[in-house]
Amino acid sequence: MAEPGSSEELVLAFLAEAGDEFVSGEAISDKLGLTRAAVWKHVNALRAQGYRIDAVPARGYRLAEVPDRLTPLELRPLLNTHDVGRELYCYEELGSTNDRARELAEEGVEHGTVVVAETQTAGRGRRGRPWVSPPGKNLYLSVVLRPELAPAQASELTLVASLAVCDALRQAGVDAGIKWPNDLVASGKKIAGILTELAAEPERVHWVVVGVGVNVNARAEDFPEELRREATSVLLERGAPAPRALFAAACLTALEGWVDRHADEGFGAVRDAWRERSVTLGREVLVRTDGREIRGTAEDIDDQGALLVRGPEGRERILVGDVALLRPR
Ligand code: BTN
Repeated sequence: MAEPGSSEELVLAFLAEAGDEFVSGEAISDKLGLTRAAVWKHVNALRAQGYRIDAVPARGYRLAEVPDRLTPLELRPLLNTHDVGRELYCYEELGSTNDRARELAEEGVEHGTVVVAETQTAGRGRRGRPWVSPPGKNLYLSVVLRPELAPAQASELTLVASLAVCDALRQAGVDAGIKWPNDLVASGKKIAGILTELAAEPERVHWVVVGVGVNVNARAEDFPEELRREATSVLLERGAPAPRALFAAACLTALEGWVDRHADEGFGAVRDAWRERSVTLGREVLVRTDGREIRGTAEDIDDQGALLVRGPEGRERILVGDVALLRPR
């Protein structure tokens, strides 16, 4: 993993800045204070990571192709954030990015620390379900937050995260909406999910880990048979792949924006934005909660993010559950 501000990162930034132009080895070594041999060594190290760098005598080096990889080299230059991603841990493989983020949170990492993996061997979804995490296709990341919130308000951050991912999907050209509480859907299928976990004492939240899984470039065959009818991806929705680093940066930028807004303006602003993006409100729903099934109309969310459903026995307040949308709009 290249260190922040390492020579390798600087050589890459220099080449990226030059775009389609060649830059001489001499210009790079002068500018960065490196020997020509060191420049050559960094170019080769970058090539080994999948960067295609042309080298032409008397002209120099040119960055011809960047790999679709989620590495600090790719992510850092794209992050225009103050806290989120300032500390970035990128892995080829993890059990679960949430588990690693929890460990780091316990070790005391700062607010905004991000953990990313190319694949997960034990990716987790809500309610103990597995999260299918094929390598190199999708986005699996977790963010450690240290909000000044009472534990009862921590669940609001799940809605905050769903707003951020919804915005990033829309920016990527996907007509996404949010199914309560935090499923991102497009064309009626699931495209992303969020798993929020926290450690708190009665009065104070120690940390919150927001785990985000987005199906970015997965094709139908990348999903297990039983999920193919229910799952979609950015690629399947747009008909074109998305550069994952750019998409990850868009998610993290949006997340920081909404986390800050939540801290400054409170849950009201989040709730209004969530309502606008919701595909649940106003629909006939079947809610599974606490071993019960409730059928009714999803009317609203309350000031704690609970879903309010008008059923045969009046208005019910659902704090945890799974929602199925009945009848198409
Ligand atoms: C869900 O919709 O059930 C939530 C899915 C959350 C999946 C993400 S992938 C990154 C992070 N690590 C995990 O193990 N889970 C979350």
